[in-house]
Amino acid sequence: MGFVVGVDVSTTATKAVLIDPAGRVVGIGTAEYGAQNPEPLWSEQDPASWWDGLQRALGSMFASTGATGADVEAIGLTGQMHGAVLLDGDGRVLRPAILWNDQRTAAECDEIRASVGAERLIEITGNDAITGLTAPKLLWVRRNEPAIWAQVRHVLLPKDYLRLRLTGAYAMDKADGSGTLLFDLAARDWSNEVLAALDLEPALFPPTEEGPAITGVVTTGAAAATGLRAGTPVIAGGGDQAANAVGVGVVDEGTVALSLGTSGVVFAATRTPIHERAGRVHAFCHAVPGRWHLMSVMLSAAGSLRWFRDAVAPDVAFSDLAAGAADVRAADDGLFFLPYLTGERSPHPDPLARGAFVGLTLQHDRRHLTRAVLEGVAFGLRDGLDLMIGAGMPAPTQIRASGGGLASPAWRQILADVLDAELVAPSTTEGAAFGAAVLAAVGATWFTDVPAATTAMVHTEPVAEPGVGRSGRAAALETYRALYPALAPTFHRG
Ligand code: XUL
Repeated sequence: MGFVVGVDVSTTATKAVLIDPAGRVVGIGTAEYGAQNPEPLWSEQDPASWWDGLQRALGSMFASTGATGADVEAIGLTGQMHGAVLLDGDGRVLRPAILWNDQRTAAECDEIRASVGAERLIEITGNDAITGLTAPKLLWVRRNEPAIWAQVRHVLLPKDYLRLRLTGAYAMDKADGSGTLLFDLAARDWSNEVLAALDLEPALFPPTEEGPAITGVVTTGAAAATGLRAGTPVIAGGGDQAANAVGVGVVDEGTVALSLGTSGVVFAATRTPIHERAGRVHAFCHAVPGRWHLMSVMLSAAGSLRWFRDAVAPDVAFSDLAAGAADVRAADDGLFFLPYLTGERSPHPDPLARGAFVGLTLQHDRRHLTRAVLEGVAFGLRDGLDLMIGAGMPAPTQIRASGGGLASPAWRQILADVLDAELVAPSTTEGAAFGAAVLAAVGATWFTDVPAATTAMVHTEPVAEPGVGRSGRAAALETYRALYPALAPTFHRG
């Protein structure tokens, strides 16, 4: 057996990883690029920069290992979700891609709720209309750039543009497809009802495939441009959240993935297409055939700690700051922090939500404030997890945690206590790119299915267990939960 490659086209860089059958990372190549913000709420990228990034990333991956395209048995694709890539009939890019973090489409979100019916939209797609998703971006272009819209013949997501350049095929995986807000979640395919209600032509959208399926092979031209071998299978893959979950082995009910970066994502695999009644957490297809997932997104997780450090103790290392919080009390002494510094997505879809310290006394110093921040983020993540459990998902027994925030032993213990589950860490930190490689390993028929591949390729180590008498922190959680409703009128007054 040779190797598989996982490619992640993120908002900041394209990354390529070379992986062996035991899940060892043999080589990595990264190529960075920027995003454009031509107007205050806009976020765009030229798809050509992704293709250039792919060539550079593969070039440095091969150069660092001595491996060549002949050693690669399959390639899996992942990337930033929800971005709208608009192409003409010849596959030419018509305008810069509008990205997941673009916020220009509030009016189009209202229009979608009105056209489909707010409840019906959640019933079919599993999700409420929010600016991040793809559908409102299409309606925005149709309204504001009619001359461009008239030429659009194909709509793709970012990683699927690389697929087109690599194979010549228009195709998408079902996990990323379900992030467009145009999918029938249960049917795992485009929703004719939603497309008709929004007057969008079904022919604009490509066929969708399950994560490990082969969607085409590398063409001779793409082989010459990338160093890959012509004929190498290109696997469907998945959006970055689904691929990251595969990469940490969250492929079935019972385990949950937690990414603790600037934002905090709680991701749970489900066996049925369940959704939260009011759409307060996302419900998408998983990159694993026959599996779905729920996902809550907290906007300022480790971002809250970074803000606090920069504002209060800019010269103190994160590790020293967090270590000081290990032996003091915050919520247990009535001190709370709300982490809604940049508004919130789950559990309060409220762009005007704000951060707060509540319960300060003369006894509190920087250590207590730090502990309140660590606990507030954990309570907020628990809110997201509980919405998922309320939607019908079993409570997790194990959480597979990754991201910069996990470096702090104090935070790890707080998370295990508040989330009331064992915390384990995956041994690779290559995230979504690694998950795309695991899907490629199934496409290359190294393994019969995704769970078999993760058993062989994903390894974890224990990190923290809920402390005796600390499980769930029920009383503190109840007080924390009362704070947002009490403060929301103040936040909304501005
Ligand atoms: C998920 C989401 C982000 C992007 C980032 O819903 O919007 O995770 O996929 O790349």
